[in-house]
Formats: sequence, C-alpha cells, structure tokens
Amino acid sequence: MSHRPTRRTCLLATAGLVLAATGWRAGVEAQGADASLASVATAAGRYYGTAVRIDRIAVDDQYRQAILRECTHLTPEFEMKWDAIERIRGKPSLAPMDDLVSFARANGMRMRGHTLLWYRSVPDWAAGVLLEHKDWSPIRNYFSTLISRYGDAIEQWDVVNEPIDTGHRTDGLRENIFLRAFGPDYIRRALDDARMLAPRASLMINEYGLDYDIPVERDRRYLFLKLLEGLKSAGAPFDAVGIQGHLDLSKGPFSPKVFGDFLQEIANLGLQIVITELDVKEYDYLAPAEERDRRVADAVRRYLDVAFAQPAVKGLTSWGLSDRYSWLEVTPEDYARYPGAWKAGDGPGVNRGLPLDSSMRRKPMYQAIAAAFKRQPLG
Ligand code: G3I
Repeated sequence: MSHRPTRRTCLLATAGLVLAATGWRAGVEAQGADASLASVATAAGRYYGTAVRIDRIAVDDQYRQAILRECTHLTPEFEMKWDAIERIRGKPSLAPMDDLVSFARANGMRMRGHTLLWYRSVPDWAAGVLLEHKDWSPIRNYFSTLISRYGDAIEQWDVVNEPIDTGHRTDGLRENIFLRAFGPDYIRRALDDARMLAPRASLMINEYGLDYDIPVERDRRYLFLKLLEGLKSAGAPFDAVGIQGHLDLSKGPFSPKVFGDFLQEIANLGLQIVITELDVKEYDYLAPAEERDRRVADAVRRYLDVAFAQPAVKGLTSWGLSDRYSWLEVTPEDYARYPGAWKAGDGPGVNRGLPLDSSMRRKPMYQAIAAAFKRQPLG
C-alpha cells in the first residue's frame, strides 16, 4: 500500500501495538463468559466486525479499546465512499482511509471495502459527467485509486450497493444515476472492473430490505434473486452477497422459513453470504430500558438463528458497535408518537440497537449475538 502514514496514523498504530502487546487483541482472551465476540465468532468458524469511523477511533479511547477487543473485521462507515474520497474531481482525499487502514493493519484486523458504487455516494461533479457524457472513466479511476492503494488490505468489496428498488422497473433495478447513464449493464461493468483490479478479493453485491415477511420485502427478495441469477448465468465475476440486516421492531412478521429459504436460494447459486450491517431500529421508546433491550435481543436472536443455520453465511458485521455512535436515532416522528411523554430535557435516550450501550457495556443484544455464534458453529 503506497502511502506515507500521517502523525495521527502513527499515534493510532502505536496505541494499537500497545494494546496488542497487552493482549487486548481479539481472539487472545479466554473463551469464558468474558470472551469477546471476535473470539466467539472465530471459534465458531465465522467472523464478527463492525462499521467504524476513524475520527471516532482517534479520539475515543474507550471506543477504540472496545473495537480492538470485540472485532476482527472493520468496515469504513463513510471514509471510502466516492463522495468522501473525491469531492473534487481528480483530487482524492485519502488521509482518513489511510489512517483507518493503517490502524487495521497495525492491529491485525481485516477490512471490508464499502462501497464502490452506491447511488447515494456520488460526488456532485460526477453526476453531470456520467449522465451527459456517458463517461465511465471517472468510475474506473475511482475504483483504480482505491483498489491500487488499499487492495492488499481489503479482502471483500461491496462493489454495488443497493441496486434494487420496487415499484418502477419490471427488473426491479433502482433507477439510479448509473442505470440512467449506462443501462442495466452498469452492474456487470463494475464487477468486471473490480475483478480486473482486485483479482483475489471477494466481490459482493450488498442489499437491504430483505428480511421480513411483508409484501415490499417479499418483492425485494424476488427481484434481488432474479438479479443474482441473471448475473451468475451471464458469468459475471462476483462471489458473495451482503445482506445488510437493518432490523426494525415496527416491521413484521419475521418468518424464519421465508428468510431461511431465501438464504438457501442464494447459497444454491454458489454464493457466500455476509450479514453486513446488523442493527435494530426500535419502536416503543416508552418501555423501560431493560424491556427495550430484551426486545432488541430477541429480534437479533431470531434473525441470527436463521442466518447461522446457513453454512454459506460466513460472517457478521454490525453497523456500529455501541449505541454511542449509531446512524439510527430517535426521530421527530418517534417523539410525535408520545406527546407530552417526557419533560423538557428528558427523553428516551438514544436508540438501543447495537451490541454495546453508550457506556460500552455489553447489552442483551451482545449476548444474543454471542449465543447465536456458539449455537450454530460452522461444521
Ligand atoms: O464528515 C462530514 C462533515 O465534514 C460534514 O460537516 C457533515 C455535514 O455535511 O457531513 C459529514 O459527512 C456525513 C457522514 O455520514 C459522516 O458523518 C454525511 O453527511 C452523511 O451523509 C454520512 O451518512 C452516512 C450514510 O451512510 C451516507 O454515506 C452514515 O454515517 C452511514 O451510517 C450510512 O451507512 C449506510 C451504508 O453505507 C449503506 N447501507 C445503509 C447505511 C445506513 O444509511
């Protein structure tokens, strides 16, 4: 990887080396009750990781130590996205990703590349170039910049993120900028470029909204499978599927059979599966924290018991490790459901949808994940 570490990188790496030397690293802890998710997952023949941001790792020692203890895999929550890397055409800002990759390497952690093509992370300048000139070169250049610099540290790439949308095209492809500029073949082109640039990496298509037995997600599963089947039968170069796993307690029912059959249909295509973005959006914010945590853990247990029954499921990444840092928030719509429920300055706290609470304490969701790994190890 050709980049000069920054001062912050050196500090982070040093911190990591010190922690590693003191045995903080994942997998070196006892297998007992205090075993980390990293060690439990590894013992089960799978892996556990989380989405992170390097700016938080750099300043929050407690959070950094929790990541080092609990995870073997890291996913950049934002730093690798096109609109984060190349705000100005031809002038990539790579320092945050350099720091994150250096931190991972200094601590023996493995990385997922998230994400190459996503309709929500296209730099403003690229929209015009892609649409007006049907010019693929900015995409090829972005892929090449990332993969040539980080390819030796990244073992899985989310090459295409969230290509499916319902209610528009019969093929279920989202009418995103890439489709409008290059047609449905943009997915194949992205996979071909990624394979040419990263021949030894696992290439993935990552999707959300595939979990519940509700009409829209039934349609999404059907359309996603059709896309995967079409790509495989055309010989497109990809190896795995990311199922994001953003659970939501306002949705339901969750059918173990429906979700399990869906995972089996993906496995029947010869594809591996990763649960890539597990977290839980709560619904009842009035309940006591213990009850809220129980509901979250119960949803995670039901989901992972189905996922880990499938041998093609190789790993799990949660979309954050601690409620201290989650993209999931208690929204104004949530508050509006409880008029007058809380005095000014009071309230339900943060959404409690990740394994650790805001004080980095293990919650029932953490225990549910650990138990699910242990209950169904890969044979
Ligand atoms: O870092 C800038 C900051 O400099 C600026 O002042 C601020 C206000 O504009 O924006 C900051 O960037 C934000 C970034 O998160 C880092 O905080 C972006 O605006 C914001 O859009 C970005 O949100 C991320 C979102 O993807 C879009 O990239 C979320 O953190 C991240 O959790 C979310 O993750 C997605 C997955 O990639 C795909 N699956 C769904 C998942 C949740 O939406």
